[in-house]
Amino acid sequence: MTTAAPTTTRTHHCNALRDEHVGQTVTLAGWVNNYRDHGGVRFIDLRDREGITQIVFHPEAGDAHALAQKLRHEDVIRVTGRCIVREGGENPKLATGKVEVDASDCTILNKAETPPFTPDDAGKVGEETRLRYRYLDMRRPRMQEVVRTRHRVTKAIRDYFDGHGFYEVETPFLCRSTPEGARDFLVPSRLQEGEFYALPQSPQLFKQVLMVGGIERYFQIARCFRDEDPRADRQAEFTQLDMEMSFVEQADVMAMTEGMIRAVWRDVLGVDVPPIEHMPYDEAMSRFGSDRPDLRFGMELVDVSDLAGQTEFKVFTKALENGGVVKAIRVPGGAKLTRKETDALAEWVKQFGAGGLPICKVEGGAVATGIAKFIDGIAVDLVQRLKAEDGDLICFGVDARPAIVARVLGELRVKLAHDLGLIKDGEWKWLWVVDFPMVEWNDEQKRWDSLHHPFTSPDDAGLEALMSGDTSHDTIAGIKSKAYDLVLNGSELGGGSIRIHSPDVQQKVFGLLGIDKAAAREKFGFLLDALNFGAPPHGGLAFGLDRILMHLVGTTNIRDVIAFPKTQNGADLMTEAPSPVDDAQLQELSLRIVQKPAGPKA
Ligand code: AMO
Repeated sequence: MTTAAPTTTRTHHCNALRDEHVGQTVTLAGWVNNYRDHGGVRFIDLRDREGITQIVFHPEAGDAHALAQKLRHEDVIRVTGRCIVREGGENPKLATGKVEVDASDCTILNKAETPPFTPDDAGKVGEETRLRYRYLDMRRPRMQEVVRTRHRVTKAIRDYFDGHGFYEVETPFLCRSTPEGARDFLVPSRLQEGEFYALPQSPQLFKQVLMVGGIERYFQIARCFRDEDPRADRQAEFTQLDMEMSFVEQADVMAMTEGMIRAVWRDVLGVDVPPIEHMPYDEAMSRFGSDRPDLRFGMELVDVSDLAGQTEFKVFTKALENGGVVKAIRVPGGAKLTRKETDALAEWVKQFGAGGLPICKVEGGAVATGIAKFIDGIAVDLVQRLKAEDGDLICFGVDARPAIVARVLGELRVKLAHDLGLIKDGEWKWLWVVDFPMVEWNDEQKRWDSLHHPFTSPDDAGLEALMSGDTSHDTIAGIKSKAYDLVLNGSELGGGSIRIHSPDVQQKVFGLLGIDKAAAREKFGFLLDALNFGAPPHGGLAFGLDRILMHLVGTTNIRDVIAFPKTQNGADLMTEAPSPVDDAQLQELSLRIVQKPAGPKA
């Protein structure tokens, strides 16, 4: 990667000078990182994007020496002087540590007020302060590295797709509101009173239309907007690497995007990504209780319903009588958890719908504590089935609803792996999850919801079932789709599918999802029209670019990899957005703010 090149105002950047420059007169510019006075000789660490160079001001330098006394943190200066061998001996911590610049001239380009923090002590202030003064935060080497890495990633992506015949196409930000899962951000229209645009949740429909338009291979580094509560890996405004291809099957899209991941990991980290294993959704749910399993540690879910059925333990037998399951995980070394800690876990799992968390510990090849006295009769078989060892903890998931058991143990295994330090640093565990169900039953709303999105094609057997007119619950629940997700270390990096390209099938899927013909026409008329005019078979995928960056730079906080992120409550602390607007602006848009009636928050 090229570095900041010389300009009319400087000859070198602050990470350029080495032995071979000794004797040359140079001009550097940057920020005052540090200043020190050693008995009349003054030192400045001058910092720019590329690094740090020490500047020394001897009393003989006259005006420059006098000026150096006034310099403070983050002043912007330009210095001219001779590159000399560092008088105080080499500083091995700096790339420029063998030399320094003996200043003969110095100009203050801009004074800085005393900053609320300096790049060196940014770690000591809270994130809110860093976000409020993001421009100061950005001067930290760590943030500079993130910005640089993000650039390298997008560059590697563009090179890769360009090399494979993809066109980068921009799709609109001001779109029609179409239900895609999350809440839309709305933008009022001035010209069409009372009407709204929506910001895109993803370029999904446009990229499909591009395929109908004969573009064949499209990609975009696309900003997406979803009005949902931010989380550690979720922002309301985020970036996708979005792609779509025509005349392909699932294997083609997966190979193409896997190749992209390989190129990015190689270019940015020098790491080789091995061929990525595939796992059907049903297997992921059954073994790991998650459709994005973290494979860096074991603790697989083991079905022990048959053993549980042999006990008199009411919690087990009742769940089984009601059609439920009992599953268990073996937590290596978990016996060291105290009663207080296991009680806290039992409270913690309640958020996932669990009634509680039966546990026992393995001691001398048998079980102890917790529910041990109720399951004595199955202890030997249980320990054997789980391949448990002395010092392990066994946690049970029990419920009449198998999905709750999967969720509870799936979440628990991840928490315990982190809490007990079972995850090795620097490990990459990749996985394609495939064969997703096309729809899932939403018991609250009593309807089918898409698992991916309504444009996802069923697989061949599923297509037959769908078109057969058999609408029994089991048939519909059993329809698999041509959808695939790429998972890294338990985080969903991206997902995609082969799309429906037949208007009849699309109409049928809308019908299944409870979107009747009139509603489908109103919401997706343009897509149905497009499908009617010769849509090629097509499919694609989108990666979360921010999530890719999180893995590459090693952070669990999505805000660390976005130049100007939003806080937990959706605020940009630097610009103080969102903000009230003038009445005149509202009037122009025919809008009026109405106070919500008091009462429980929606
Ligand atoms: P999906 O909704 O799965 O698919 O999104 C694709 C990827 O985008 C990332 N992502 C997010 N990243 C940060 N903050 C968010 N709020 C957020 N939401 C999603 C995830 C996710 O895997 N149009 C389809 C893709 C397709 O079918 O081609 C789509 O948007 O990493």
